[in-house]
Amino acid sequence: MTHAIRIHAPGGADALRYEAVDLPAPGPGQATVRHTAIGVNFIDVYQRSGLYGIPAPFSLGMEGAGVVEAVGPDVVHVKPGDRIAYTGSPPGSYSTARTLPAGILVRLPDGIDDDVAASIMLKGMTSWYLLKRTHVARAGEAILVHAAAGGVGQILCQWAAHIGCTVIGTVGSDEKAAIARACGCHHPIVYTREDFVARVKEITGGTGVSVAYDSVGKDTFQGSFDCLRNTGHLISFGQSSGPPPAIETKWLAQKSASLTRPTLFHYIALRADLETAAAELFEMVTTGIVKIAPPAVYPLADAARAHRDLEGRRTTGSIVLRP
Ligand SMILES: NC(=O)c1ccc[n+]([C@@H]2O[C@H](COP(=O)([O-])OP(=O)(O)OC[C@H]3O[C@@H](n4cnc5c(N)ncnc54)[C@H](OP(=O)(O)O)[C@@H]3O)[C@@H](O)[C@H]2O)c1
Repeated sequence: MTHAIRIHAPGGADALRYEAVDLPAPGPGQATVRHTAIGVNFIDVYQRSGLYGIPAPFSLGMEGAGVVEAVGPDVVHVKPGDRIAYTGSPPGSYSTARTLPAGILVRLPDGIDDDVAASIMLKGMTSWYLLKRTHVARAGEAILVHAAAGGVGQILCQWAAHIGCTVIGTVGSDEKAAIARACGCHHPIVYTREDFVARVKEITGGTGVSVAYDSVGKDTFQGSFDCLRNTGHLISFGQSSGPPPAIETKWLAQKSASLTRPTLFHYIALRADLETAAAELFEMVTTGIVKIAPPAVYPLADAARAHRDLEGRRTTGSIVLRP
């Protein structure tokens, strides 16, 4: 037996149920892991609310860290006792222990503790592909990062500043602006009271940014486009304020812009790519180039409160559930 947060019908945070569930022995290609720290991500909110149409009932959670308890007959890259972390499908990391596909497990180096691991597998590898695959960020280019004090935002800002980008970030409050600045965001903009498009134009001397990383969606999508320089790249990778509008290709022609709607899991679907992403991320974190602030920790059974705080814009950095 294990305990898990389950969804029986999509809805608000009240839809989360803490229940006892079976823990099957691992079959071929599987492993059983006991969690020590579980990452909370905005994708969990989309899945809980029904936006992604996952058939209920299902267990929630796309990220976790812990120890391998058992492996299926053909699994060789991890063994019982290994410290591991992972992100990926199927959801189910909001649990004390689970049996899952072993192919998404990555062994943790000594320099990465469990809370950090559960804070970076999804958010950090997302920052990796956003800066190194979807758009190859270069020193000297001006970039725009929305929700710069958030879980992804803090890692993205630090990594981009290390590359040498001029980082412009939006945040919901002065407190968040200070956090973003400490994460290497050169120009935090409090977009709840400032016109971020006007500020970006001012900061870039009227030129605009070469890339806008937009995870906020509905409320910022048009503004992100307006911030782009000619031939700029709009990367729409989330929708924390709601889905962005549908667009026609002629909209992009106004400035020969490009638009991408990427998802981490396509960038790490091949084991070789997952290992590259994890290795480059772990290098950034163990060398201290990317610092991970201590996460906000909630008991697993209290996951609903974590969701309310995340959706209510009351969090900065990452959230971890403790089994
Ligand atoms: N496509 C991918 O591969 C991928 C992977 C990981 C994450 N993501 C996306 O990246 C975003 C960040 O994820 P995260 O887990 O790190 O969350 P987060 O950034 O820690 O939290 C979301 C933040 O969005 C901002 N926000 C603006 N308008 C909002 C609204 N109406 N409701 C709620 N939040 C609002 C808030 O920051 P302010 O108060 O500062 O505005 C809030 O703190 C999410 O959209 C997520 O879906 C995408």
